Amino acid sequence: MAKTNNDEQFKNVISHAKEYGFVFQSSEIYDGLSAVYDYGQLGAELKNNIKTYWWKSMVQMHENIVGIDSAIFMHPKVWKASGHVDGFSDPMIDNKDSNKRYRADQLLEDKITRYEKDGKTDKAAKLQADMDEALKAENLPQLKVLIEEHEIACPVSGTKNWTDVRQFNLMFSTQFGAMAEGAEEVYLRPETAQGIFVNFLNVQKSGRMKIPFGIAQIGKAFRNEVIARQFIMRMREFEQMEMQFFVRPGEEMKWFEYWKEARLKWHTALGTDPVKYKYHDHAKLAHYANAATDIEFEFPFGFKEVEGIHSRTDFDLTQHQEFSGKKMQYFDNDLNAEGKPYGNYIPYVIETSIGLDRMFLLTMIGAFEEQDLSEGEKTDSRIVLHLHPCLAPIKAAILPLTKKDGLPEKAKTIMDNLKLDYNVVYEEKDSIGKRYRRQDAIGTPFCITIDHQTLEDDTVTIRHRDSMEQQRIDIKDLEQLIANKVSWKNLLRQS
Ligand code: GAP
Repeated sequence: MAKTNNDEQFKNVISHAKEYGFVFQSSEIYDGLSAVYDYGQLGAELKNNIKTYWWKSMVQMHENIVGIDSAIFMHPKVWKASGHVDGFSDPMIDNKDSNKRYRADQLLEDKITRYEKDGKTDKAAKLQADMDEALKAENLPQLKVLIEEHEIACPVSGTKNWTDVRQFNLMFSTQFGAMAEGAEEVYLRPETAQGIFVNFLNVQKSGRMKIPFGIAQIGKAFRNEVIARQFIMRMREFEQMEMQFFVRPGEEMKWFEYWKEARLKWHTALGTDPVKYKYHDHAKLAHYANAATDIEFEFPFGFKEVEGIHSRTDFDLTQHQEFSGKKMQYFDNDLNAEGKPYGNYIPYVIETSIGLDRMFLLTMIGAFEEQDLSEGEKTDSRIVLHLHPCLAPIKAAILPLTKKDGLPEKAKTIMDNLKLDYNVVYEEKDSIGKRYRRQDAIGTPFCITIDHQTLEDDTVTIRHRDSMEQQRIDIKDLEQLIANKVSWKNLLRQS
């Protein structure tokens, strides 16, 4: 089997995702909607399992973290307070010949990567420094100067006929209220975090939460990304799993380090090769942050951010206090008990924010293998998804060897028992070899084959996806064997 390069491997993962019902282009029969995707029957299961893993490790495993589910629509002032109305924008530039719009910093980043590939490291470093300076100073004309100086051409038209660089807000807006007149403009939330901040006091008071404590949430977010690319990596509608951890001012660096380590452990517990992960500490910080790092994964198109861990100081709660006029303070009894003369403060926040769709893509890429099984003259291959059993959409396939002699009936009794605990499937079509291959391709950890011997002694063959080893076991031992592999317990212990 010919070895595939990174581009081909990525394309193969995308077509595999479609072929087996993981991810479809949205509204495909109408030629699709750019950067919007639907999750199919197996994709929805995998996505739910990733959510469950995150939720359990945050909420179930931490006594001081609770989960909420806030609305997508929020009062428009929220986005004024958070800075999104004025500041959540990208510097964009249009090519006048192709009418294509690009993020100016992305064009420059691509040029830096090209310089690095060509061994022009000095040029790359200089351009990086110049770009950082221009971005920091929000100097849009200077970004255009850099694009021109480095002779960057439009990838579509090939020309350097550019407009000026302008800021473009990424929030989607819509009208709230039935009447056109008097309807208010509201935004589709660009992050779930603000739903947590505005509920800080509600949760703290109703849940009698004591600092340090966290509020977690999983939900949709929307961004009018101008450059939406790389499949589900950058979408216009996506899902985030965010947790805001409220701490005493002055203790934030301790918790920042704690969450940095804890979050990487959550990733590597899934068995993905740890060398595929790295931290990217931010040298340049947002004005409200005093520490920030990204967890990056090595995708076929390079190391890219999957998750951000940010120390956001008291910025968000202070802003909401100012804009809403409501006190966002916490009274720390323990501080008083420690003899400190004060007890009221606005907590500092450590945020962990992971994109569910990016985690999904990472999981598919990390699990996907085109395996050469050729022996001597005989060529053979299979595609296998080495998904962690807890994440696998289907835990076991129940396969009667033939469609007769009472084997389907026996298989169905096994299925009826296992389905009380797990997502399992029954398949009797095609040869057993073909059925194994199909289950390998969707990441099913176990295939259970029912044959004539089963009717005599109540044993079955269980085949393990990764090793392809087969084992004869008693039907009564099936449940335990599967449970050992797919139980959340083992995974949560390691995470
Ligand atoms: N509350 C902080 C926040 O939203 P962010 O870095 O903008 O920070 C957090 O987003 C995570 O959300 C990213 O690490 C990424 O995984 C995911 N994400 C952001 N924009 C995305 C998009 N357009 N499509 C898919 N995932 C996205």
